[in-house]
Amino acid sequence: MKISFSPPDITQEEIDEVVDTLRSGWITTGPKTKLFEEKIANYTNASKAVCFNSATSAMELTLRLLGVGEGDEVITSAYTYTASASVIHHVGAKIVLVDTAKDSFQMDYEKLEHAITDKTKAIIPVDIAGVMCDYDKIFEIVNNKQNLFSPSNEIQKAINRVIVLADGAHSLGATYKGKKSGEVADFTCFSFHAVKNLTTAEGGAATWRDIPNINNNDIYTQYMLLSLHGQTKDAFAKTDPGSWEYDIIYPAYKCNMTDIMASLGLAQLKRYDAILERRKQIINMYDKALENGGATSLKHFTDKSSSSGHLYLVRLNDKDEDYRNMVIKEMAEKGIATNVHYKPLPMHTAYKNLGFNIKDYPNAFNMYRNEITLPLHTLLSDEEVEYVTECLKEIVK
Ligand SMILES: Cc1ncc(COP(=O)(O)O)c(C=O)c1O
Repeated sequence: MKISFSPPDITQEEIDEVVDTLRSGWITTGPKTKLFEEKIANYTNASKAVCFNSATSAMELTLRLLGVGEGDEVITSAYTYTASASVIHHVGAKIVLVDTAKDSFQMDYEKLEHAITDKTKAIIPVDIAGVMCDYDKIFEIVNNKQNLFSPSNEIQKAINRVIVLADGAHSLGATYKGKKSGEVADFTCFSFHAVKNLTTAEGGAATWRDIPNINNNDIYTQYMLLSLHGQTKDAFAKTDPGSWEYDIIYPAYKCNMTDIMASLGLAQLKRYDAILERRKQIINMYDKALENGGATSLKHFTDKSSSSGHLYLVRLNDKDEDYRNMVIKEMAEKGIATNVHYKPLPMHTAYKNLGFNIKDYPNAFNMYRNEITLPLHTLLSDEEVEYVTECLKEIVK
């Protein structure tokens, strides 16, 4: 058998929708992107949504929209992909990394509270594997520390406490206490990268909740300006006959979503409930097969939250890096692609060069050293899921 880690699930529906766009005479940002934004806002119960070429762009532009920059601090988890932290560096702010709680893939909330200073402008919690963070706890913490916050732009003034910008790259469709990812944090950024539950090949979106005294259309316009050169009219608006003239308000960025990408997303979103259901079935199969087997899997479905089932994270109890790497190699020899999520940021050169040391993040290191991620995607058959668990059990026996 040959089992890939996370191939895209593309059906005739996606192909037809993309072909329709290709034949329509409009392939970059236009009607399909606008429609996809509406559908994402509806799906997540968010006030509004805006699409970009990646979650990384969505997060960076959100920090820029919030006026976060030099002299500010932004906190995120040590246990994540580089994008959650690199965007903080891009805007000139200081990255503050918080260790995970013991035996948890999520930030230690007590350490998070201690990390907040009078320079902290935002926290980027990471909904790792599609399991949403404990947002009630996070909001309790930022409210407790409200007295330290000094706002420096209109949105910061309106929110008047540390802003919660969720890295929801994995969590489209997940819920926390009955609320969808996208309507819980102040801002949420999703990824539609090729390996994600819902893909547009590359792509991302930001959603946000209503902010008192701030007009949602103004936020949307700011995002449009930031993502398209600070230009007052996008290419679609400029095609109106006689409507050529535009202004560049400031030298901004270029990271808009195209209608080709959006058409892929529109077709995927139509199938998304079924996609989530199949992921849940596979997770339940893995959970059942691996219980009592010397391994501990991340819980995706609890009383408090229901995951989008993005990644199946397993810890090989009490084992170390060498053993885990041996398992990955032996699984590969049996035709099964696995992965590791994540090598903590302080172990990477870029973050070492910024002064981070993994010794300060012992819990994150412990999670990493025996973690293996099993294939989880909607092209897997039940037989393949069984084969994966049989091989894993055989290797770790
Ligand atoms: C946790 C996390 N955040 C952010 C990103 C960045 O997403 P994108 O590739 O859409 O920029 C990823 C991508 O893998 C991710 O896993």
